[in-house]
Amino acid sequence: MHKVPFLATSIGSMALKISVIGTGYLGATHAACMSTLGFEVIGIDVDPEKVASLAAGRIPFYEPGLEELLQKELKSGRLTFTTDFSASADCDVHFICVGTPQVKDGLAADMTYVNAALDALAPVIKTGSLVVGKSTVPVGTAARLRERLLAINPNSDLAWNPEFLREGFAVDDTLNPNRLVVGVTNSRAEEILREVYAKNLAADTPWVVADLPTSELVKVAANSFLATKISFINAMAEICEAAGGDVTVLAKAIGYDPRIGSRFLQAGIGFGGGCLPKDIRAFMARAEELGAKQALEFLREIDSINLRARTRVIDLVRGELGEDLSGKKIAVLGAAFKPDSDDVRDSPALDISVQIQAAGAHVTIHDPKASSNAQKRFPVLNFEETIDECVAGAELVLHLTEWKIYREIDPTLLIKKVKNPIMIDGRNALDRDKWRSAGWKFKALGRSDI
Ligand code: UDX
Repeated sequence: MHKVPFLATSIGSMALKISVIGTGYLGATHAACMSTLGFEVIGIDVDPEKVASLAAGRIPFYEPGLEELLQKELKSGRLTFTTDFSASADCDVHFICVGTPQVKDGLAADMTYVNAALDALAPVIKTGSLVVGKSTVPVGTAARLRERLLAINPNSDLAWNPEFLREGFAVDDTLNPNRLVVGVTNSRAEEILREVYAKNLAADTPWVVADLPTSELVKVAANSFLATKISFINAMAEICEAAGGDVTVLAKAIGYDPRIGSRFLQAGIGFGGGCLPKDIRAFMARAEELGAKQALEFLREIDSINLRARTRVIDLVRGELGEDLSGKKIAVLGAAFKPDSDDVRDSPALDISVQIQAAGAHVTIHDPKASSNAQKRFPVLNFEETIDECVAGAELVLHLTEWKIYREIDPTLLIKKVKNPIMIDGRNALDRDKWRSAGWKFKALGRSDI
């Protein structure tokens, strides 16, 4: 690693001031968490509505614990929000937390927001300050942005610090990460990041120092591995269906091997959300640009297995109600891409609902938090406030997002509301014996009918 000549005095024990660019899921959580660590934090976003909402103590999405934390930090006076980039001028560290969604016409990540954030920061930040990328980006981005930054602001620096937070656990994952990865080109950048994360370091959080490209790759490699694990068990589910086995027992048995581990082996309708699907696609696109397409060909299959799980659940519906679904009344429990979230981006539950509705069925959906987001995205779908209203007169019920309240349903009571007591568990999360003994016909992905 080489040293960068800085004009500014060393940050040393000075209290750092932090700016967070982009106040979506990642940025809003990061800003509130940095403030709770004791730093003065300015959250900056180009969307005035988002800024007004955050400044008033409201988060524009559902994340357990975050709104309370935001309100507490606003009250402390350490946390503020603005649309004005020049507010970052006297900050020492600038975290880029903007989105990198999939481009409309291909697999790659859209870098518009990351580029715009860097361009807005570069001319206004003070000499010696450190820009830290947290967004998930194609490998090579950090080096490119660093060059761009130094061309405008030669005595600043850029590092990369990927974020691994999960929706539903965002605050805890940010405050107590299972590792911290920093991509740096010199020891001063590492020193500053050590100061930002001093509390985590004191708590022995593993600290991995990498070069810029490796730090970018860590994130997409981790998400590719998780996606692979889920698609692996969903492929096993297909085999179990063909061979008369039970994927839930298989997953439990292989999961006892510590080399495999039991987490992320929940077979069902597969992965969705704002990260896993787009990250594996962007990774494939980037590998192709790098001339290493073949190395990630397997991710194409991971994507296909994942999307096939959605079709397989629709096949199960047709197996019960017949090929022609027109006019069939189907109730769907769950719209979010996973429980404890109101996020419906690339939600398998919502995709399946849309496909069944397009096949002519009358679909009614319930979700404790995601109905309003889902309704905005698909106004043709019908939503109900309560589970009872959702399933009233249903010819079949689909369980597609494993919220706790669905596991707590009493099947002996619910059976009185439906027309046909048929439950298809798309998440392998309900107690099959309980539902069967209450009189339901119970089907699930990857489980033979014994
Ligand atoms: C993921 C990564 O876990 C996180 O580290 C990264 O920072 C962002 O992407 P998230 O999108 O919040 O986090 O969701 P995650 O909990 O990983 O679940 C992703 C999807 O996989 C969900 O749709 C979930 O339902 C599905 N899933 C998960 C399964 O189908 N089976 C499993 O066993 C686990």
